[in-house]
Amino acid sequence: MRSFQSQCTNMAEFGQDFTSQMVIANYQQGQWSVPKVQPIGPLSLHPGTHVLHYSSTCFEGLKAYRWQDGSVHLFRYADNIKRLQNSAASLCLPIPSYELLEEAILSAVKSVENEIPDLPGALYIRPTLIGTELNIGAAGRGSNEALMYVITSPVGDYFIGGIRPLKLLIDDENMRSTPKFGQVKTGGNYAASLASVTQAREKYGADQVLFCPGGQVQETGAANFILIKDKQIITKKTDGSILPGITRDSILKLAQSQGYQVRELDYTVSELIDWLPDSEAFLSGTAAVLSPVGSLIYQGVEHKVGDGQVGKQSMQLKSSLTDIQTGQKQDKLGWTSLV
Ligand SMILES: Cc1ncc(COP(=O)(O)O)c(C=O)c1O
Repeated sequence: MRSFQSQCTNMAEFGQDFTSQMVIANYQQGQWSVPKVQPIGPLSLHPGTHVLHYSSTCFEGLKAYRWQDGSVHLFRYADNIKRLQNSAASLCLPIPSYELLEEAILSAVKSVENEIPDLPGALYIRPTLIGTELNIGAAGRGSNEALMYVITSPVGDYFIGGIRPLKLLIDDENMRSTPKFGQVKTGGNYAASLASVTQAREKYGADQVLFCPGGQVQETGAANFILIKDKQIITKKTDGSILPGITRDSILKLAQSQGYQVRELDYTVSELIDWLPDSEAFLSGTAAVLSPVGSLIYQGVEHKVGDGQVGKQSMQLKSSLTDIQTGQKQDKLGWTSLV
């Protein structure tokens, strides 16, 4: 099914359209090759490759924007590079240097410069690292060989229907990850959340699941969860169990500079439900940007967030962020870089 926006602009659903080029580098015998630009196309992997059995894979997601004057800018890419390096270390994969990843990301964007959509579209960039050692006996150790590639995709809105209040299902039984592995951007964490998210969609028409194992609020399957209440910003603290979102961090910093009190803490589902009537809530992430939440379903009952509509303060915070990302406001924090 194509989104409303897709029908209007002929833009494919998020993540289904790809540019013509990719960047690729290999790690073999203790050395990385120089990243190479080549036409995007299938990878050839032996069926005994480590990643296909032991999920030795991690990735990143960041965006480049074409500003009104035609120039192209990345947002906080240094933070994505560091997070990918942390993920690689957690997965015992060879860790590409900062410089190698920087070169790969910049050349991936430059190689498709004329395929980057105008605003409000963007170029979504997906650096990926996989363990390529040919070994089905290496269940108990990391892959000694790896492949790093960067693919890119022209994108619009992440959620079908553009900006609308989302419906979330609170799942207090399942975990999307383990207490320390939630901070790793690896396919296994997404695989672990799939059954819950699929069921929430089919049974409740929910857009996403808010994972709250043991009654402790964490995050959704693909974005952080943030609440606004009485000029306070409330969100789960980063303790290894959730992905330390770069959008989350940006929103918290912008909110603080606008006089909000930022509270990063542990909180329960029952506290959350108590706060909902006079709160706003939203998801934050590179893909989701800042997507308002209108209601949460818990134990079969739907609880509205505020009046159930798109929150005003949330949208103001979203503009503060996107104005910087898209060059409409001066970037005083040094978050954007010209490609
Ligand atoms: C599980 C999860 N949490 C949070 C985020 C948000 O992270 P970021 O703002 O860095 O995109 C994402 C998005 O990639 C995600 O997949």
